[in-house]
Amino acid sequence: MALNNWNRALITGASSGIGEGFARRLAKEGTDLVLVARSGEKLEALAAELSVESEVIVADLLDREQLAVVEDRLRDNERPIDLLVNNAGFGVVGDFVATDIDAETDVVMLNVVALQRLAHAAGSTMAERGRGSILNVSSVAGLAPAPGWATYGASKAYVTSFSQGLHLELGPLGVHVTALCPGLTRTEFQERAKYDTSHLSDFMWQEVGPVVEAGLKGLQKNKPIVVPGRHNQVYSSVASVAPSSLTRLAANVLRKREMI
Ligand SMILES: NC(=O)c1ccc[n+]([C@@H]2O[C@H](COP(=O)([O-])OP(=O)(O)OC[C@H]3O[C@@H](n4cnc5c(N)ncnc54)[C@H](OP(=O)(O)O)[C@@H]3O)[C@@H](O)[C@H]2O)c1
Repeated sequence: MALNNWNRALITGASSGIGEGFARRLAKEGTDLVLVARSGEKLEALAAELSVESEVIVADLLDREQLAVVEDRLRDNERPIDLLVNNAGFGVVGDFVATDIDAETDVVMLNVVALQRLAHAAGSTMAERGRGSILNVSSVAGLAPAPGWATYGASKAYVTSFSQGLHLELGPLGVHVTALCPGLTRTEFQERAKYDTSHLSDFMWQEVGPVVEAGLKGLQKNKPIVVPGRHNQVYSSVASVAPSSLTRLAANVLRKREMI
């Protein structure tokens, strides 16, 4: 797929996994980049490897002052950003009452609050220009109850709903907004969440490449939601039409059998 749409993209969580995949894919198409994450050395190494102009912003998006630096960069009309990939995120696994509440709060602050503030900075600036794109990385975990990942699932339900609202509001102003809802993807995500994946079947996994490709293609076509991978699409279709009593029942059974 040729991507001729974007001159400069800002990607959060560009130091690994899906965010790094977006950086590499967009660089191939000649899109200049602004790479954001906490791991400065990884970002500098990636920037040095890429053949496009790549700025690095080392920022912990849980820190309001550091987040504000990224918001300001999105508003900078001297070096305009026409694509925001709102990707940084993490999850905490375990029974909610047994987990560290500060870590659970950080999930909300990063996956919801930081994503929302960055979308506001980018969306308002792009709407003034009458052009731009925002890709919010959500998850299939937000489509149904997620026992064992309750806060994470809820944070991604927010991202998917929020993105659809913005899609409707900003579309007429020339700004495309898409929620990308991957399923299990091979990145550092599960290790960071200390999630043992040994019981999960191979067919459930996707590599980063197809997830990134699906996201950019969907955004170009101005789709409100993109679910990459046939198995995730089947799951998403069922979850979106099934009554909530049924999705709760299924989630409970899967949890008891330790399948999620
Ligand atoms: N992998 C999956 O199975 C899967 C499935 C569905 C959705 N997703 C979503 O995909 C997105 C990317 O995750 P991934 O799978 O690529 O995981 P990953 O490899 O762990 O990457 C997460 C990225 O977020 C950055 N990050 C984490 N905390 C941050 C903070 N406080 N401030 C700034 N950056 C921060 C990390 O960089 P630093 O540590 O350098 O800051 C890293 O670049 C997330 O929103 C995740 O929820 C993942």
